[in-house]
Amino acid sequence: MKEAILAVLRRHPGEYLSGEELSRGLGVSRTAIWKHIQALREAGYRIDSQPRRGHCLLAVPDLLYPEELRAGGRLGLWGREIHYLTEVGSTNETARSLAEEGAPEGTVVLAEIQTGGRGRLGRTWVSPFGKGIWMSLILRPPIAPPSAPHLTLAAAVAVARAVREVTGLPAGIKWPNDLLVNGRKVCGILTEMKAEVDAVHYIVVGIGINVNLRAEDLPPDVRKLATSLMMELGAAVPRVRLAQEVLSRLSELYSLYLREGFPPVREAWKELNITLGKRVKVSSAWEEYHGTAVDIDDEGALKVKGEEGRERKFYAGDVTLRGS
Ligand code: BTN
Repeated sequence: MKEAILAVLRRHPGEYLSGEELSRGLGVSRTAIWKHIQALREAGYRIDSQPRRGHCLLAVPDLLYPEELRAGGRLGLWGREIHYLTEVGSTNETARSLAEEGAPEGTVVLAEIQTGGRGRLGRTWVSPFGKGIWMSLILRPPIAPPSAPHLTLAAAVAVARAVREVTGLPAGIKWPNDLLVNGRKVCGILTEMKAEVDAVHYIVVGIGINVNLRAEDLPPDVRKLATSLMMELGAAVPRVRLAQEVLSRLSELYSLYLREGFPPVREAWKELNITLGKRVKVSSAWEEYHGTAVDIDDEGALKVKGEEGRERKFYAGDVTLRGS
């Protein structure tokens, strides 16, 4: 009902709607309308209520409420089951438990703050309250495990497109899925999966976007390598709009992937990447390899032409860009 009242108020921006109109239109009592309006206020919505005029929506909070994300109806696959948490250890952990309990493909887990945000390669991910998009998505694609990286690359494409659309910033993808703006990281993606040899049970795609963090929100050692959209743009970025854009673009790209396979994702990734053609250092647990990034293959692996002239493929690792 809260969502229905909001939808009506939203359709009449700047207008006062009487309690009676709302109660008639939505088929509930005026007392119920009043209670829901109070609850909306407590949730951070600014609603002005005047004795003879009624209720008018003045401002919505910049919180990632499911009803805010769903407004506009563009979430596609991701609109059905959204779990919103004020605070969580890690949205990837919560999504994993939900997936184990049978949560369907398309489930979204979002939190305002993560107290144990996790990054790739065992790193931590700084996730302060209300300043980023910390979310995890559950997928159950009919693919074999070696194809799972396709979805990480698709997620990077969706985020890059969304960031470009909403902020105009020149976001580029560093293989496999870091998003960089002006050489520093604004988004990371952590994909985890449960699979058998020939079938994927579920994939959790964890997306962390530094939206409105200030420099002091990042630890000093991270500050050299990471930034936020707000720091790069010089203005706050609406998180709800950005999250909607990411989800709607990923929904479209995922459908395309299921219909046509990896080629269109690969092309989109190549258009947005800032890795190919550059001299790179690829670091893994056991080696560092220097060369020029030349392409990604059908599985999404990075092909690097080494300084000794040999071509190697990398399925995982950390890339440092060293210029062209
Ligand atoms: C990276 O190291 O680049 C990946 C960072 C992924 C962070 C996101 S935030 C939402 C989700 N929950 C987590 O604990 N991690 C991912």
